[in-house]
Amino acid sequence: MTDAPPGSATTRILSGDPLARTERDRAVASTSELGPPRHRPTWAEVDLDAITGNVAALKAHAAAPGLMAVVKADAYGHGMIPAARAALAGGADWLAVALVEEGEALRAAGITAPILVLTEPPSPALPAMVESRLTPTVYSSEFFAAASSYARAISTTLEVHLKLDTGMRRVGVPDGEWDTALRRVRDDSWVRMTGLWSHFALADEPDHPFVAEQHDRFAQALELARSLGVAPPQVHLANSAATLRAPETHYDLVRPGLAVYGLEPAPGMAGDVPLRPALRWCSRAALVKRLAAGEAVSYGLRWTAPRDTTVVTVPAGYADGVTRALTNTGEVVCRGRRAPMVGTVCMDQFMVDLGDEDAVAGDEVVLIGRQGQAEVTADDWAEWLGTINYEVVCGVGRRVPRVYVGGGRAT
Ligand SMILES: Cc1ncc(COP(=O)(O)O)c(C=O)c1O
Repeated sequence: MTDAPPGSATTRILSGDPLARTERDRAVASTSELGPPRHRPTWAEVDLDAITGNVAALKAHAAAPGLMAVVKADAYGHGMIPAARAALAGGADWLAVALVEEGEALRAAGITAPILVLTEPPSPALPAMVESRLTPTVYSSEFFAAASSYARAISTTLEVHLKLDTGMRRVGVPDGEWDTALRRVRDDSWVRMTGLWSHFALADEPDHPFVAEQHDRFAQALELARSLGVAPPQVHLANSAATLRAPETHYDLVRPGLAVYGLEPAPGMAGDVPLRPALRWCSRAALVKRLAAGEAVSYGLRWTAPRDTTVVTVPAGYADGVTRALTNTGEVVCRGRRAPMVGTVCMDQFMVDLGDEDAVAGDEVVLIGRQGQAEVTADDWAEWLGTINYEVVCGVGRRVPRVYVGGGRAT
């Protein structure tokens, strides 16, 4: 490490050009399917201190005593293991994943915190879940029966979280079957229900009446559980939006994902909770050229220079998650100001119109994030693409190395 600030023993990598770092730095810097950045100057910088700070801020804000950080889907594109460690450093008590494989990867990395698997895997996964000490979510009678009989076969009491469907109609015990399911779990000698939870259908609209309706149903379920003598210690319901805006839904644990990474489910929702986006996606101008008015750019010649102008070629394309739908639509930051992507986005490259800017090859091009006073956000991408910021950050391709900045322990 050549550039760690004094007193920052845990700082692994600082901002700057990852290609300029030493071999040893690179070895700890990044994960991608091709390993750390060595030749192509395109990378996603992930600020682990931002993740740690976001979790600490969410925990301080929450009415719940505990926080379960959702790190599924490679921590929403940020890199699951470093992000999980950073979240734990910020005070996360639990981690949540969608897949058994994700939980296994966290254990293989030495993470010992409790891990909830949010959806039922096929029942042959039960031995792997037990082996990796992953807490299963249960909701179907088939998976419940398989869990009970596996626990019996290995003479272990299996702790599970029961998921109720309060209105999203994706997964969970349907309303009409709550009583049966609660009795079944209560009366089983091999399965112990240590958690009861549900999920909101409206991730970004905490003021929508359906949020209160789902919460009412969940409260009824808790009442029913109590009347049946069931009192699991971990009751949880709140996603990021509810963590930020609906303290009455917090119970024992809040369960945010998006906000952990510093993004808001809807603009302004964080209010005065100090969230910081953790991801900055960068590249560098590979080629700078002057085009004459009337010259067209890229496949299909879908953009024609309206005047003499400087166009730079950026080494990232739709194979990296710079989706082709950004053609003639997206913007980047280069030389401190926003500039339009022009012409068809290619598999490995796209072009930017810089007007009369004095650009040179090697200039930093920011796809998502800030450069000086100018910024392009995941929310901007979501607007251009007609999607949500969740999908934008999950869409940063596996070919783009993640470079970790800050105090977390990256691998
Ligand atoms: C079951 C469950 N809980 C919590 C979350 C976190 O939601 P958010 O990212 O909106 O905080 C998700 C995300 O998809 C989820 O599926």
